[in-house]
Amino acid sequence: MIELVDIGYVRSGAKDVDTAVGFARDIVGMKYQGADDGVHYLRADKRQHCLAFVEGESGVLSSGLVLRDDKALHNAAKHLESIGIRVHRGTDEEARSRRVTDFISFDDPWGNKFDLVIGQMHDPSFLELTRASSGITEFGHLCVDAKDIYKAAEFWTENFNIKVSDWVQNNAALMRFNPVHHTLAVFQGDEPGLCHMNFQVDEIDAIFRNWNFLKEHDVEIEQGPGRHPQSGAVFLYFKGPEGFTYEYSWNVRLIHDDDAWIPRTFDPTMFGAIDMWGGSSQKPSTQRQILTADNDADAAAVQALTEAAQTRV
Ligand SMILES: [Fe+2]
Repeated sequence: MIELVDIGYVRSGAKDVDTAVGFARDIVGMKYQGADDGVHYLRADKRQHCLAFVEGESGVLSSGLVLRDDKALHNAAKHLESIGIRVHRGTDEEARSRRVTDFISFDDPWGNKFDLVIGQMHDPSFLELTRASSGITEFGHLCVDAKDIYKAAEFWTENFNIKVSDWVQNNAALMRFNPVHHTLAVFQGDEPGLCHMNFQVDEIDAIFRNWNFLKEHDVEIEQGPGRHPQSGAVFLYFKGPEGFTYEYSWNVRLIHDDDAWIPRTFDPTMFGAIDMWGGSSQKPSTQRQILTADNDADAAAVQALTEAAQTRV
């Protein structure tokens, strides 16, 4: 069993990195932490960064999940290999680029790339968001796509300290590894990719302030403002450059008694199942996963591995 302790970051490729960074900084409201070797870092909370744009091909590169220590990382690699998943050991240079002390990476059976990291660098300085009125308090959750959400949930719950909080029938598995209703979610999608990256905001007013701000700046609103019946959170999804979907949300449900919580199923065709206020239930758009070649493996080998894994599940 692999024990996650936190989410770390999203790492995304950007063809037009200046526009992507400008949007995250000036529209989303994050703090720009500078660039190093073609990687641009953006901060939203205690983490040195939770979003990195890498100059190059457009698409998500990986999502970082945090483990406790060396031993946990070593055991995670062993566990993943024991179930037939190829593990890449991060080099010192790759770890430095991710602002972590060490990491491994793997593709989930649907082709989403994850980094399991330890020692994520924190920034102790006072956080001055570029746009304080955004109300951002932290990187809240991330969501990836998989063809079969039930098999995906099985992968996460059997191999990680993850529980399903609620289901949207055939559409979404909302999962937790701490009291927050969902920190990791899998949405139904035919191709791997990042469905969205979520930021928590400090008050309901921030959702509506942001909504007006985004409209004034001609940003495409994908969904909301609305309220999810599963987490109870008030949400707003919007699309940034490079097809990257951001979400602000407020007041997510906390589940303190794991044993008492029974996952519920919501029928997405019923009124209010996605948005209790009856807004659009159209799924936000996904930024596709870039298949990368690790070390000695070439891209074709990675693809073959992904296909083999998909056949297995
Ligand atoms: Fe979300």
